[in-house]
Amino acid sequence: MNDQAVAALRPGAEAHAHIGRTIEQIRSELGVAPVPVDAIRDPAIYALEQDKVFRRAWLKVATDWEIPEKGDYKVKELPVAETSLLIVRGKDRKVRAFHNVCTHRGNKVVPTTEFETFGKARANVLSCRFHGWVFSTDGPLRSVPLESGFGELDKACLGLREVACDTWEGFVFVNLADRPEQTLEEYLGDFGRLFGGFPYHEATTAFRYSTVLNCNWKVALYAFSEGYHVPTIHAGSLPGFTGIEHSDFKLAGPHASSTIYGAGMEAAASTAQFAGVLHADREHGPRPELVPPGINPTGRTDFQFELPNIFPNFLIHLAAGCGYPGMAYFTHQFWPLDHGRTLWEGINYFRPARNAAERAAQLHVNALHRNAWLEDTGTMEDTFTGIRSGAIGAMHLMDQEFMIRHAARTLDSYLGK
Ligand code: FES
Ligand SMILES: [Fe+2]
Repeated sequence: MNDQAVAALRPGAEAHAHIGRTIEQIRSELGVAPVPVDAIRDPAIYALEQDKVFRRAWLKVATDWEIPEKGDYKVKELPVAETSLLIVRGKDRKVRAFHNVCTHRGNKVVPTTEFETFGKARANVLSCRFHGWVFSTDGPLRSVPLESGFGELDKACLGLREVACDTWEGFVFVNLADRPEQTLEEYLGDFGRLFGGFPYHEATTAFRYSTVLNCNWKVALYAFSEGYHVPTIHAGSLPGFTGIEHSDFKLAGPHASSTIYGAGMEAAASTAQFAGVLHADREHGPRPELVPPGINPTGRTDFQFELPNIFPNFLIHLAAGCGYPGMAYFTHQFWPLDHGRTLWEGINYFRPARNAAERAAQLHVNALHRNAWLEDTGTMEDTFTGIRSGAIGAMHLMDQEFMIRHAARTLDSYLGK
């Protein structure tokens, strides 16, 4: 049985067949015309995005393994939706999301000055610091100091305000609509079926970077959605790269993906040595059999990663140790703070190191990737300044930039254009 036949028997193979496209099909579906930059430049469009995208689409806000025990919680600030979220694992082990807003007078139940904070609820309750109202980790209002002083108080109606929350492959998503139009499973559709099943949960060593960039969130998203820039922007950190090939184009509703090939990642002598440490063990070495069915069907050795882009702001790069040595996968998120400021978060995921040599090798690879990210993020503010100047009216996009074209089109449809 050949690889394609084996892949066809694996879960997700049918989804792959549904969403895979040739570049000719992509050009015919998405067109080749320049894409206007108004959606990046115009602050009025940002206000529409807040309501029609970020208060309507499913948004990844946490991971299962960030809050593994009963009572563990994460507070995630979401300026784009003008709220603070409390994501908490209840006594029943279920993960729920609430507005981090006290129903007494609106203070934050868990105060924070950071974009995200972690903690543990003692005895599975959370107490508001302002006047001490106490809430269960599954939402209900438990107790109120000096309750008789309120005259009448219907405590049953004063639980924390719950937000729709569901999990896919350990990634926790929320939907801020009063009544979400789709379940998370429906929202991800074939995309979720294809990219489900990857052992995300085994890569528990995570290195997280974040910074606030003075650019519109889409400038940052678009810069990480294509490989056209790699030979130029990354000539410093990846000197061996002579070119990138995007292949196996995929469209699935608002989501898109592509396979990235390119030789040369281990060209630097120091990286080659560390790669040798990680590649010596099957645990960290290239595991192409882990990527979803139908991806890299001929087993090309220059496979780097698959680049699923979950609308609106979550990118996953599935490498299975084939791209950056030892790297299982890495993710990006782009959180608008306002029209011209974005919180970017990048996380590298490895399987745990079992000795000092593996740990040192992971730290080296992580630093190499951090350097590449510095090169990426270094472009963004200039791009935004250029677009704001009014000097260009559109972006001229080539085949490798098709996910930008698709994301821009999806955004238009969410905004009702
Ligand atoms: S605002 Fe929370 S107890 Fe008063
Ligand atoms: Fe890059």
